[in-house]
Amino acid sequence: MTNILFSPVRLGDVTLSNRIAMAPMTRNRSPGAVPNDLNALYYGQRGTAGLVITEGTTPDAGGRGYIDIPGLYDAAQVAGWRKVTDAVHAKGGKIFAQLMHTGRISHPDFLDGGTPVAPSAVAAKGDIFTKTGPKPMPVPRALDAAEIPAVIATFGRAATLAVEAGFDGVEIHGANGYLPSQFLSTNANLRADEWGGSVENRARFLLGAVAAASAAIGAGRVGLRVSPGSAFNDIADSDPEATLTHIATALRGQGLAYLHLVGGAYDFDAAGIARRIFDGPLILNGGYDAARAEADLAAGRADVIAFGSSFLANPDLPERLRTGVALNTPDPKTFYGGDAAGYTDYPTLREAGVAAA
Ligand SMILES: Cc1cc2nc3c(=O)[nH]c(=O)nc-3n(C[C@H](O)[C@H](O)[C@H](O)COP(=O)(O)O)c2cc1C
Repeated sequence: MTNILFSPVRLGDVTLSNRIAMAPMTRNRSPGAVPNDLNALYYGQRGTAGLVITEGTTPDAGGRGYIDIPGLYDAAQVAGWRKVTDAVHAKGGKIFAQLMHTGRISHPDFLDGGTPVAPSAVAAKGDIFTKTGPKPMPVPRALDAAEIPAVIATFGRAATLAVEAGFDGVEIHGANGYLPSQFLSTNANLRADEWGGSVENRARFLLGAVAAASAAIGAGRVGLRVSPGSAFNDIADSDPEATLTHIATALRGQGLAYLHLVGGAYDFDAAGIARRIFDGPLILNGGYDAARAEADLAAGRADVIAFGSSFLANPDLPERLRTGVALNTPDPKTFYGGDAAGYTDYPTLREAGVAAA
């Protein structure tokens, strides 16, 4: 049944050995924001993916949020990531770093007492988990127009460091309510200058981040993830179809590695719109199993399918999809933080003694 999934595909400058991507997943296991040996073991275990996309990784100290997530803005982090990229490459996989500036989804606890930045001084509803427990999301500081180019430039610098660390490319995290997605939105972005209002203005930050990374390492090594219509992290967009149409149109002809859609949140055919307008490779994600992945690839709706929680719980997911055996069940209790339990101890088929392996 699974045929296309296991065929190679080219994403910009990078050729994958199969069409299975590991979706980006925050795991909160990099104390000091530096990737470590346990992180390298975890990613290496999953290196039979055609493409591994890392957890959200901070491109700049001003963009920190969440507990013990890794960064990509200093030499220690580059050295830590080198262990990770080597481990994935040793298995034949390619690996992109997901660059995530959390913007208002942060807290002074993560910023040495500083105030998180955002397009506008609008707090996200809800709490954020800090080392001393859940705390209400703070009211962020609205970025001055004059500061914004420097924040955009951090995506270019992080992309350069990513290549230095052995990454095959970077994915700009434009999804799920973090800084670029805050700019895109119509509830977190209330600006009246060239960074807010019209869809062209709201998309300027995101497209600027893509352009900065492309200028640094080449567009063929840069992907973009968006989540049209998602309400995650208290985000709203009054016309997600128009937003996606604008982004896909703006990215035409750039030679980007890929566009990656987080599915499920919209009541319009986001994948179809992206496919029709965007002229580069498309990655789809959200609730996929082998049969649905194969069907969407066969129908030409996507070039690559990303698997999240199923990859988290199955280090040998490609082999399991190929052989059709049962999958381990992910344990949400160990998703965000902790040690090797629920991280590097999910068994492979071989370890579980399954004969099909
Ligand atoms: C533990 C966990 C952490 C996640 N962290 C991120 C992240 O850092 N960046 C991101 O873009 N999406 C993140 N996601 C969303 C996944 O990439 C994916 O979109 C979601 O799990 C749906 O795919 P699935 O149905 O295959 O699991 C996370 C999901 C999980 C389960």
